[in-house]
Amino acid sequence: KYPKFVKIVEVGPRDGLQNEKEIVPTGVKIQLIDMLSATGLSVVEATSFVSSKWVPQMADHTQVLQGIQRAPLTQYPVLTPNMQGFQDAVAAGATEVAVFGSASETFSRQNINCSIDESMLRFQEVINAAKERQIPVRGYVSCALGCPHEGRIEPSKVAEVAKRLYEMGCYEISLGDTIGVGTPGSMFKMLQMVKKDVPIDALAVHCHDTYGQALPNILTALQMGVSVVDSAVAGLGGCPYAPGSTGNVSTEDVLYMLHGMGIQTNVDLNKVIEAGDFICNALGRRTNSKVGQAKSGT
Ligand code: HMG
Ligand code: MG
Repeated sequence: KYPKFVKIVEVGPRDGLQNEKEIVPTGVKIQLIDMLSATGLSVVEATSFVSSKWVPQMADHTQVLQGIQRAPLTQYPVLTPNMQGFQDAVAAGATEVAVFGSASETFSRQNINCSIDESMLRFQEVINAAKERQIPVRGYVSCALGCPHEGRIEPSKVAEVAKRLYEMGCYEISLGDTIGVGTPGSMFKMLQMVKKDVPIDALAVHCHDTYGQALPNILTALQMGVSVVDSAVAGLGGCPYAPGSTGNVSTEDVLYMLHGMGIQTNVDLNKVIEAGDFICNALGRRTNSKVGQAKSGT
């Protein structure tokens, strides 16, 4: 039994672009977000308030957030790893933020330069400050199906970190297959464990498609009651601190599957394909989306 409605969290402008070597002009990022806003998406992750020494591509976070035309029913969360990021995000006008932890100790250090326990202390501060301003906080758990450094990650560890974030006040926990190594088998086992600790309605899946397993993994999650899916237009992306990671599952492919199954999303697939064409032209790159390739004849 599948959910009737699935919420798509579009992460292309952030996860999709953060790893691009050449700096993408701010105007291109803004136009991409504006085109995505016009598709009906209710969430478009816009940028990251992280160190520009670590992720130079996101250095224009404030200009991006202030340059976009906000659709009335769309949220534009931004990544905030600590209080500095949170304060900068609020100053730039952010109305939703996301903290990002990891189920792998090694990945936590490589990505945000601290242990899992230290990260939880930082996130608690961010969440407390956000609560005061009634800013919703989303939480990520990276390496939910495997780590580039540690390999297999125990589902119980994923559940523990997800539960901590949820209990601290994150309204939704996105389980990241950061390097796309999961299969329906490992997705099933991991979700079985996590859903004991976090209500299924508060869970999202965030699949990278490195090994071509993203759609079957998402389908498995839907069968288990998950109804929030992260994806990136044109299948852009990859984490700069996850060697070997490639793009997120493409929004176009996810929408094609969901609509074909009769599941509603309120998102216009053709308009997402247009946004995909736009960003691929700007990057001088072919789309990673199979549906985009089929429909654009490229
Ligand atoms: P740090 O060096 O440990 O920070 O970095 P620090 O507190 O020791 O401060 C050192 C310097 O950084 C100081 O500046 C701070 O002001 C500055 P200095 O005095 O040297 O000039 N600093 C900041 N600057 C801007 N924004 C900030 C900030 N905080 C401190 N927020 C930090 C810690 C977290 C900042 C760093 O490690 C970082 O920026 N990491 C980047 C992490 C990142 O963006 N990764 C990619 C996103 S995660 C992902 O892609 C996975 C996901 O998609 C899910 C999945 O697929 O699994 C979400
Ligand atoms: Mg990611």
